[in-house]
Amino acid sequence: MASTCIPTTIVIFGASGDLTWRKLIPALYNNFKKERLSDCASIVGYARRSFTDEAFRVHLRDGTVQFSADTFDAATWEVFASRLHYFQGDLDVLGDFPRLDGFLKTLEGKSANRLYYLATAPEHYARVVAELGSAGMAAQTDCWRRIVIEKPFGRDLASAQVLNQAVHAVFDESQVYRIDHYLGKETAQNILFFRFANTIFEPVWNRRYVNNVQVTVSETVDVGHRAEYYDTAGVVRDMFQNHLLQLLALVAMEAPSSFNADAVRNEKTKVFESIRPIALADTVRGQYAGYRKLEGVAPATLTPTFATLKLYIDNWRWQGVPFYLRSGKSMIRKISEIIIEFERPPHLMFRLPEGLDFTPNILSLCIQPDEGIHLRFEAKQPDSSQEMRSVDMDFHYRSTFTGSIPEAYERLLLEALDGDASLFTRSDGIEASWRLVDPILKGWEDQNKPPLVIYPQGSWGPGEADQLLARDGRQWRTGCGDEQDVAPA
Ligand code: BG6
Repeated sequence: MASTCIPTTIVIFGASGDLTWRKLIPALYNNFKKERLSDCASIVGYARRSFTDEAFRVHLRDGTVQFSADTFDAATWEVFASRLHYFQGDLDVLGDFPRLDGFLKTLEGKSANRLYYLATAPEHYARVVAELGSAGMAAQTDCWRRIVIEKPFGRDLASAQVLNQAVHAVFDESQVYRIDHYLGKETAQNILFFRFANTIFEPVWNRRYVNNVQVTVSETVDVGHRAEYYDTAGVVRDMFQNHLLQLLALVAMEAPSSFNADAVRNEKTKVFESIRPIALADTVRGQYAGYRKLEGVAPATLTPTFATLKLYIDNWRWQGVPFYLRSGKSMIRKISEIIIEFERPPHLMFRLPEGLDFTPNILSLCIQPDEGIHLRFEAKQPDSSQEMRSVDMDFHYRSTFTGSIPEAYERLLLEALDGDASLFTRSDGIEASWRLVDPILKGWEDQNKPPLVIYPQGSWGPGEADQLLARDGRQWRTGCGDEQDVAPA
């Protein structure tokens, strides 16, 4: 019996690259295995390398075995692999895109939806978009056309604006899905559920009860084989402009009127637009020892591999509450967490033991690796007169929910196929976030202030990052891992 579903083709540009191998195909495979991919979906890889369909499938199988070991099943893979095709193409060859279009039409057999995925090096994005436009491949007549664009989206405000213009010359904003894979992480998505599907947290989620907010995304990995790219980017472009600011927006935004893409993104953009310009004195930049010796890195490079920013959101909810953000490579621990530190009680009637400071309530949103939520509060120490200590109320995904947490790309690909852009960034949001970080990058470059600090590998970054908080009478908190600094010794 002939199938009645509309064919959908996912065309991946940059199909021979690492992203396709490590993330996209394993994610599509898992969606297929969970029967979430339409029966009429096919995947076409486009790249310069020469592959037969068979060789392409073997290559991708290796990646899926490696990066989706828990779910890999040989028989399921065989069925999935029959949907994978390869088209060898070269952007510099005239007529390449019309040829690709012809190939796709033959494969599809009738009108089909298409999801174009830009997984090429970023310098090719504008070109691919323009070629899709010239070949008439972006026009939505009876079926939809969408484009997914990987990060980095520009390297500053000006280049992001140029890229947005190039994209909008061919695609309407409603067809565009800019990826920030942090938004596909279950725990990042859960921030809005935690805040807005419960009654008890939102009333205290403001300047009256929150003393400060901390976002830490620390990584143990160094820049490894990506040194050449990384040295032109640095941690602010690589992590802050996108991932950290997106996490911040989820924590700080107002409740949208609905869970619809534009309503959610309107609120996020308002957060970015309310952030006060960040003073250079409220920034720290570091570079791990040994970074300059890497191949592909300029010998005297000032590229930061670590940064801390302190910022304020000038609105009613957050007036006066500092937000501290830090991220770096080659650090002591891989952890992504958000700490909400609450105000102390207005009056403490209990006697604190000599030399012991009072620990405020701390809520930790644990994005990874031990996904969950912890709440620290004070309890009376049994068999004592007035002693108290901090205790932890915790929720862990791994023990509460069965099954492993899906990779961010699984969700993101499904949402793009479903036409829901809530988890993707909109052009105004991207530009607003560049507007925030551009002056910092420029200030560091032009004024060389604050100086770049070299920090030891395997540390929490430069001591200056601790001093930035100490200056305000505060300290970095970690509430998600084993080492809970909020618990008194
Ligand atoms: C990427 C950055 O966007 O995110 C990498 O380019 C970084 O440098 C990575 O390592 C971190 O992602 P995750 O999901 O491992 O926290």
